[in-house]
Amino acid sequence: VKKEIVMGGIRPTGYLHLGNYFGALRNFVRMQEEYTCFFMLADLHSLTTHPDTKELKTNIHRVLAEHLASGLDPDKCALYCQSHVYETSELYLYLNMMSMVGELQKTPTFKDKVRQHPDNVNAGLLTYPVLQAADILLHRAKLVPVGKDQEQHLEMARNIANRFAHHYGEVFPEPVAFNYGSELVKVPSLDGGGKMSKSENQNATLYLSDSDDQIRKKVMKAKTDSGPTEPNTPKPDYIENIFLLMKLVSTPDTVQKFEEDYNACTIRYGDLKKQLAEDMVNFIAPIREKAEAIQQDTDYLKKVMIQGAEKARISAQATLQVVRQAIGL
Ligand code: ADP
Ligand code: NA
Repeated sequence: VKKEIVMGGIRPTGYLHLGNYFGALRNFVRMQEEYTCFFMLADLHSLTTHPDTKELKTNIHRVLAEHLASGLDPDKCALYCQSHVYETSELYLYLNMMSMVGELQKTPTFKDKVRQHPDNVNAGLLTYPVLQAADILLHRAKLVPVGKDQEQHLEMARNIANRFAHHYGEVFPEPVAFNYGSELVKVPSLDGGGKMSKSENQNATLYLSDSDDQIRKKVMKAKTDSGPTEPNTPKPDYIENIFLLMKLVSTPDTVQKFEEDYNACTIRYGDLKKQLAEDMVNFIAPIREKAEAIQQDTDYLKKVMIQGAEKARISAQATLQVVRQAIGL
């Protein structure tokens, strides 16, 4: 039986954080055992918001090391750098003709990026979802492990695939967002605000590269209040977020104990955060230490990327042959 095809990617705009891990990487590691998987470091996507490439190489090496430290095995998946797979650009061009400017302009992530980078509203930002569709459709992938923030982009990739089918016939399966456990994940930021992210409030973002002390400091600074005064009060968002983070790294028993304390109004947020900090340290430290070691071995990292690009290009070239034929080129 032919295995289903999976495509996932992360931008090397900085080192990885807990949102990347639980939204994407954790699924990658499990999926490589069951599916034909393509995982890429999306360096071309980084150029839309980070034209300065001084740190790009270092970031690519570190992020690749973090993928490997998290358990990705280059023999079980294609692990590659987006810019090494030149075929992406050709498909991106065709798919631009299948993409509507009005729809792209309405994408919430486009509006966010215009807000974050008002002096560099380039066309690449607008067509970001088209490039992402190209990354996915290049391998005719069906399953796309992503966090909740990417739901809308997947919708656009489906629209683009459908428009292509309408004009030129069925070439691509409809890609769907995937997470083990069905619901897509949104890892909250520590400041009680939105999602954890590389670009916004780094003091409220937990990186896989953070030292034990940095982790403790960030967690202890998370916003709390004086606690509930009535039994079973609904949690304010910033408290709910601390519990959400705890569910990711602490044991169910630990979470349950603090839930009970909360509901009984006996919770001490200092204790909650201390426990979360220790569990977070125990979760992150082994990944950090492994990644640090792997990052030193640049020859190995280069070898991994060459091997990954070879696999990805074989798949890409096969797809492009079908695509050109379908279009009539
Ligand atoms: P960032 O948003 O930090 O720049 P990317 O855009 O490169 O990260 O996203 C890479 C992957 O990580 C995507 O699948 C995205 O859905 C996931 N991701 C990023 N932040 C979060 C988060 N806070 N919660 C869940 N998943 C996330
Ligand atoms: Na994102």
